[in-house]
Amino acid sequence: MRNEDIAEIFNASGRDYESSASELINLSASMLVERLQLSTSDDLVDLGCGSGALISHSEQRLTNGSAIGIDLSRVQLELARERFRLSPLEPRFIQEDASASSLDNRSVDAVGLGLVLPYVERPQQLLKEATRLTRLGGRVAATVIGAPFFGAPGTRLLGLLERRGVAWPEVELQFDPREAVRLALLCDVDGRRLDDVTIEEIEREFWWDSFDEWWRMLRLFGFLPIGRDRVLEGIARDLCVDDRVVDPDGKVRCAVKIWLLSATVSEGDPWV
Ligand SMILES: C[S@@+](CC[C@H](N)C(=O)[O-])C[C@H]1O[C@@H](n2cnc3c(N)ncnc32)[C@H](O)[C@@H]1O
Repeated sequence: MRNEDIAEIFNASGRDYESSASELINLSASMLVERLQLSTSDDLVDLGCGSGALISHSEQRLTNGSAIGIDLSRVQLELARERFRLSPLEPRFIQEDASASSLDNRSVDAVGLGLVLPYVERPQQLLKEATRLTRLGGRVAATVIGAPFFGAPGTRLLGLLERRGVAWPEVELQFDPREAVRLALLCDVDGRRLDDVTIEEIEREFWWDSFDEWWRMLRLFGFLPIGRDRVLEGIARDLCVDDRVVDPDGKVRCAVKIWLLSATVSEGDPWV
């Protein structure tokens, strides 16, 4: 997806982005904080920070540390600045491409990538950037929504898109965990690399109170193809009467898998 399109989507989503899936976003952020193994004086950078969920979950730990959030979306960054206006942590927020940031080499102890990898054109470049920024022994962790995409309701949606010949959104919905590990293992920057790469899968049921709320969340995350409104209207009409999508109480329940990749930055030849 082009950077301009990503920025436009998340500018339009505004504060509705976080409220559309707050449990999912908070779960992803809290898992990242755990895997980053933050200590009180760590310097953290959050690449693709949105309105600052990860920094918010790290705030209590970083009593003597610092935090920087980077994002393409002006509106998400405004929300983040507003969120931490009174925070003693005083995080800094920068609007730029997280794959090629202006931060110095080896300037932080931990890098988080919350639900951002599938949006970028070259995910490996983003992982490389995380490696470049991290000091030796520091940690990198990323979350991605896994496959099947949003359980049975998401799979029905993908099936209908496929059958109507609509290309899936450029967001790589079926991000492959093996591919993520491969990309991470090939991340060589300036003699340093990602080591101890692990990937975990966490599955939780999330629900939205109505079909419209679920559909709205998909739009706010940029998961629906842009410029195909007619076709999407038809698909939404089909899905909202499908009992594999909407339960008798009107709720949409999805078994969502979250993949959590974490690694340590190390130096030297891994085979020696
Ligand atoms: C699904 S949101 C995740 C936001 C936040 N990390 C969270 O966990 O709630 C994806 C965010 O990544 C940002 N983003 C996507 N590609 C980016 C890039 N190349 N550089 C900076 N930000 C990017 C988007 O603007 C958006 O705010």
